[in-house]
Amino acid sequence: MGNISFFAFLLLSIFLLHSCFYNGVDAGLRRKALETPSAAPSAAPSAAPSAAPSAAPSAGGISPRILKFYPIIQEFKNRVANDPKGILKTWDPNDKNVRNYKGFFCDLYPADKQQTVAGVDFNGFEFAGPIPKSIGQAKNLREALLNDNQLTGCLPCEIGLLANATVFNVSANSLTGPIPKSFQCLADLEKLSLAKNQLYGSVPDTMCKISKLVLLDLSDNNFSEIGPECKKLIAQKVVDPKGNCINGLPNQRSKAECDAFLSKPKSCPAQNTIPCS
Ligand SMILES: *[C@@H]1O[C@H](CO)[C@@H](O)[C@H](O)[C@H]1NC(C)=O
Ligand SMILES: *[C@@H]1O[C@H](CO)[C@@H](O)[C@H](O)[C@H]1NC(C)=O
Ligand SMILES: *[C@@H]1O[C@H](CO)[C@@H](O)[C@H](O)[C@H]1NC(C)=O
Repeated sequence: MGNISFFAFLLLSIFLLHSCFYNGVDAGLRRKALETPSAAPSAAPSAAPSAAPSAAPSAGGISPRILKFYPIIQEFKNRVANDPKGILKTWDPNDKNVRNYKGFFCDLYPADKQQTVAGVDFNGFEFAGPIPKSIGQAKNLREALLNDNQLTGCLPCEIGLLANATVFNVSANSLTGPIPKSFQCLADLEKLSLAKNQLYGSVPDTMCKISKLVLLDLSDNNFSEIGPECKKLIAQKVVDPKGNCINGLPNQRSKAECDAFLSKPKSCPAQNTIPCS
């Protein structure tokens, strides 16, 4: 994105504003549009610039909402232990404009029409390392696609601070520990995938009361308990609990495998605090 002209960016922003908040175009398309600006018009032929409101991104300057992400990203950068694809080179500490970094996509924040980082897509970057607690400061983040990496450690309870998150995907990593109770604070959450990790413990039942939830993928972990609210969502096929250690559910791991896992020492804290703001 480093070489797109301001004009292209302006057009793109108008397109994004239009598509995100007026058409509800899905995130994959938004991301594609950002990464390949020339594809934007064909991706949404109906998004005529004249149909967008007059809000324009602040010319030249970097929006304060974007600037807030800069230290968080630089901190995360210092913790990434493996970067075989050279992604981190694009996270230039001398460039505070996060829009130029690979893996981040931006659009306008509805309330003040300022540019903000709306999503991260690290899908397949092969990053290794923990998810930093500072992720909780990325409050306007709507989508976090951290799937298919080698992330390790416990899920930080600060994830519960991502009040605008609609999609959170950490599937196919090496995360462990329980789901923090703070996940119940994610009031806008629609899709959460925790599949294919080494998560364990009791699934917080309050999380299954999130009204917008359409998918909670718990498959292929070592969860051992699930409550009545989540069971309702299993029946509705919102929650996928297969490949765990939950008594009484079909398609679970063998008792021997579960006993072996349960008897191993666990390193993550219980995470019962619920910081919703
Ligand atoms: C983001 O979350 C805050 C706090 O819950 C809320 O007031 C705001 O409307 C949300 N913004 C969007 C764009 O959803
Ligand atoms: C999460 O990522 C996996 C790939 O690891 C993908 O198959 C799945 O559809 C994604 N789920 C969501 C909710 O984004
Ligand atoms: C669950 O525990 C078993 C037994 O320790 C282990 O072999 C397996 O890899 C664990 N599964 C996951 C997905 O972590």
